[in-house]
Amino acid sequence: MIKDQWYAVLDSKQLKLKKPIGVTRLGEKLVLWRSEDGKVNCIFDKCCHRGAALSLGKIIHDKIECPFHGFQYDSTGKVTFIPANGNNVVPERFKVNYFRVEEKYDIIWLWYGEDKEVLPQIPFFKELNEGFSYGGFSEVWPVHYTRAIENQLDVVHLPFVHSNSIGKGNKTLVNGPVVKWKDNLMTFYVNNTVDDGKSKPLKPEEIKNYEKLFSLQFQMPNTWQNIISKDVRIFAIFAPIDDNNTQIYIRFYQRFMKVPVLKDFINNMSSILNKYILHQDRRVVLTQIPNKSQLKMDEKLIQGDLPIIEYRKKREELKKI
Ligand code: FES
Ligand SMILES: [Fe+2]
Repeated sequence: MIKDQWYAVLDSKQLKLKKPIGVTRLGEKLVLWRSEDGKVNCIFDKCCHRGAALSLGKIIHDKIECPFHGFQYDSTGKVTFIPANGNNVVPERFKVNYFRVEEKYDIIWLWYGEDKEVLPQIPFFKELNEGFSYGGFSEVWPVHYTRAIENQLDVVHLPFVHSNSIGKGNKTLVNGPVVKWKDNLMTFYVNNTVDDGKSKPLKPEEIKNYEKLFSLQFQMPNTWQNIISKDVRIFAIFAPIDDNNTQIYIRFYQRFMKVPVLKDFINNMSSILNKYILHQDRRVVLTQIPNKSQLKMDEKLIQGDLPIIEYRKKREELKKI
């Protein structure tokens, strides 16, 4: 896991008022709940008394109460009340770990790393906040999140995995691709063409005017977008559950249709197509060995894998900081 990052971990809609939710993210068992004012809290989902899941408990104002013996926890994981002990002061050692969380763009973000007073800004494709609406869906893949992410950075697979959908046209020759970084944001430009049997793929530096090409972006550590056009995007979150599972959230964002009912219809219909495409990917990605990718591993990569290589390098670099 890369430390000191904001991870997108949950869709806001999953977390209702008055109903805590227990989820595993980044290998940790967590409980999230909303205080009465809607603010999101996140602590370990294991009571320090006798190990019950706090996510089965009740919300009392801004605290969560264990379902077993009623210990109450605040947002920093401290026990503030032990009913059986009456108004005795609760000793300091009665606590569990907590995570800083924030809610933005209908997503709950978790800070994984050292808790500092001032944390960096939440990384997001900010333009998606400018007049877009969206529809989407979510599913779990039994793979390490690096594999799920790399699948979305893979420009070589299109004519094979998606030959009847987004990879139509037999464009098997992979020119470039061109990869550009801005801090932790990768933009990669796709220039696949039909192989005439005589050509070699262009090297990335041979591609002129790459900015005009079709492009996709990946924001470390776990969000991605496909820039279909100025007004249409496909956005994805790869929320690590544990070493063997990833919760994927896909959203279709658009701003060409603003009429309320039609807008919802289009946004929701898009999920059918996106799910179909995603399942074409899933069929193959689930078979990859090993389950987790890293920079140094026994894979023979090619020029077209450049976004994947760049991602692996960036992961390595950020893990060292
Ligand atoms: S196990 Fe939680 S209060 Fe006892
Ligand atoms: Fe794909």
